[in-house]
Amino acid sequence: MGSLQGKVIAISGGARGMGAAEARLFVAEGARVMIGDVREAEGLALAEELGEAARFVRLDVAREADWIALFEAVRREFGRLDGLVNNAGVMKPGNIADLTVEEYTRTFQINQLGPLLGIKHAAPLMRETGGGSIVNVSSSVAVRPFAGIASYATTKWAVRGLTRVAALELVGDKIRVNAVLPGFIHTPMVDELGPEMGAVGLSLTPTGRAGTPDEVAMLVRFLISDESAYISGADHSIDGASTA
Ligand SMILES: NC(=O)c1ccc[n+]([C@@H]2O[C@H](COP(=O)([O-])OP(=O)(O)OC[C@H]3O[C@@H](n4cnc5c(N)ncnc54)[C@H](O)[C@@H]3O)[C@@H](O)[C@H]2O)c1
Repeated sequence: MGSLQGKVIAISGGARGMGAAEARLFVAEGARVMIGDVREAEGLALAEELGEAARFVRLDVAREADWIALFEAVRREFGRLDGLVNNAGVMKPGNIADLTVEEYTRTFQINQLGPLLGIKHAAPLMRETGGGSIVNVSSSVAVRPFAGIASYATTKWAVRGLTRVAALELVGDKIRVNAVLPGFIHTPMVDELGPEMGAVGLSLTPTGRAGTPDEVAMLVRFLISDESAYISGADHSIDGASTA
């Protein structure tokens, strides 16, 4: 029996990177997964790779109607919801002096509003079957930021606050809410940010290497599983000692 046997888990931003690693691990551990992402081709290919245990729906986490449609698909396809990973996120480097309201608003909508909408619409479905577990993906920069990532760091700090409030509001429904704070993890996002940002990430990581999406997926698996039944409202760092 896998550690997630019988569970149904939705993953935002699940088409690639850490979200895709989580989808693969969760299915290997006996779960069924609903992958939501704006990247349709990659999301559909992953769902096909994972077979009957996976579905993909297009999801822009900033759009409330997309979340409603995603959970309708979860109900229709799988009939229940046990877990949600609010994993989708974007990072656009830039100093405060250069930030435009449009840029900041878009980052806010994806990184901060997106997880809030996910929680809002996942909770009623989880409640029907007696509870669940929600993991919000924040970042180590929400503990130790650096200059030049104003929109990313502030929205990821807000995810820690959202996690605590949601954990308290949903405790009566037996829904746990935790935050995962990855450090420098080698994913397509990091590759796209380029070698300069990669060098900054490595310089901030005492262990001297980037983490892998699989390593993050194992922590998220634990927080979604019943093994972590007494853990809620907390930050969980996975960052090669970068916030030690
Ligand atoms: N890679 C790192 O070093 C690192 C460190 C700390 C935190 N994080 C966070 O981890 C999470 C996963 O990041 P990753 O490194 O795997 O990045 P990634 O870019 O490889 O994957 C992120 C996924 O989110 C999706 N996405 C983006 N905007 C979306 C939207 N509006 N709606 C739905 N999906 C959307 C993307 O299409 C992509 O598939 C993000 O929240 C990121 O901020 C990453």
